[in-house]
Amino acid sequence: MKEILNLLKRIWILNFFRRIYSATKYYNRKYVQIVKWGFTSKEDTNFTYDLTGDNLVSLAQNIAIVTKKDVSHILAYFKEVEQNKDLFEHVVLTTANSKEKVFADSGVRFGRRLGWYAFARAIKPKVIVETGVDKGMGAVLLCAALEKNILEGFSGKYYGTDINSRAGYLLSGKYKEFGEIKYGDSIKTLSAFKESIDLFINDSDHSSEYEYREYNTIKPLLNKNSVILGDNSHSTDKLSFFSLENDRNFLFFKENPSNHWYPGAGIGISFNKTS
Ligand SMILES: C[S@@+](CC[C@H](N)C(=O)[O-])C[C@H]1O[C@@H](n2cnc3c(N)ncnc32)[C@H](O)[C@@H]1O
Repeated sequence: MKEILNLLKRIWILNFFRRIYSATKYYNRKYVQIVKWGFTSKEDTNFTYDLTGDNLVSLAQNIAIVTKKDVSHILAYFKEVEQNKDLFEHVVLTTANSKEKVFADSGVRFGRRLGWYAFARAIKPKVIVETGVDKGMGAVLLCAALEKNILEGFSGKYYGTDINSRAGYLLSGKYKEFGEIKYGDSIKTLSAFKESIDLFINDSDHSSEYEYREYNTIKPLLNKNSVILGDNSHSTDKLSFFSLENDRNFLFFKENPSNHWYPGAGIGISFNKTS
C-alpha cells in the first residue's frame, strides 16, 4: 500500500491536488466559523473573542519578562479579571442599555486587552493613556486595574482619546472615577498633554504614519519605566522602529483567538533597556 501511494505521489497532477488539500485544511475550519459568526454575531469591527489557554500563558510569559515579575503573578491578574463579577455585569448591562447594542454581542471577551490589564496591575502606573477608545472595552478594563491598584496603595488615572464624540460608553458608573476621555484628534490631545506617561497604548488611527506620529508626540513625556503598547504591531513595524531609534527594547505578542475566524492582532511592547 505504502509503495502504491509513493508511486501515485510521483504523478504531478495527483500530488498537486493532495498538496492543495493538505494546505487548505489549515483554513477550511475558518470558513465554517465565518458562516457561524455571520449568523450569531452583530459585530462589524473591533471584534471580540477569548484567547486560547496556551496563548494566554504565552502572553503572561511575555509580560513577566518585561515587568520582571513571576509568570504566576501575571496569570493571577488574568484570573482576577475572570473573577471580577462587577466588571462583567457592568459591561453586559451597559451594552444592553446602549444605542450601540445593535453592533455589540452579548457576553464579555477581552482578548489581548487582558495583557493591557496585567501591565497596569504589574507596573502600577500613575498615568495611563489609551488613544482610540471605541466602545471603551480597554478603558473600562484599565480603570478596573486602577481600582485594584488603589486597594494596594497605588493611585493612578486613565486618559482615553477619541475623535468620535460617542465613543466610550462603557467608561461609566464607578469606573468613570478612575479616568476620563478627551475627545478630538489624538495628536492634538497628546500635543497638549503635560503629565509623564507610565503606560501608553496606541489604538486610534491605524495608518502607520499616524501611529509613528503618536509615538514621537509622547516621546518627551516618557520616563525611564514607561511601557508603550502598540495595538497595530501585527500590521506595521512602527513601534519596533521607534524602539530601535530610541534605544528601547521591543517584543511582539501574537494573539490566537479561540473559536473565531479572526486571525488575531497582537501587542507590540516597547520598554526601556534599563527598566
Ligand atoms: C480600534 S478602535 C479602539 C478600540 C479600543 N482601544 C478598545 O479597547 O476596544 C479605534 C478608535 O480610534 C478612534 N480614532 C480614529 N482616528 C482617530 C484620531 N485621529 N484621533 C483619535 N481617535 C481616533 C476611532 O473613533 C475608534 O473609536
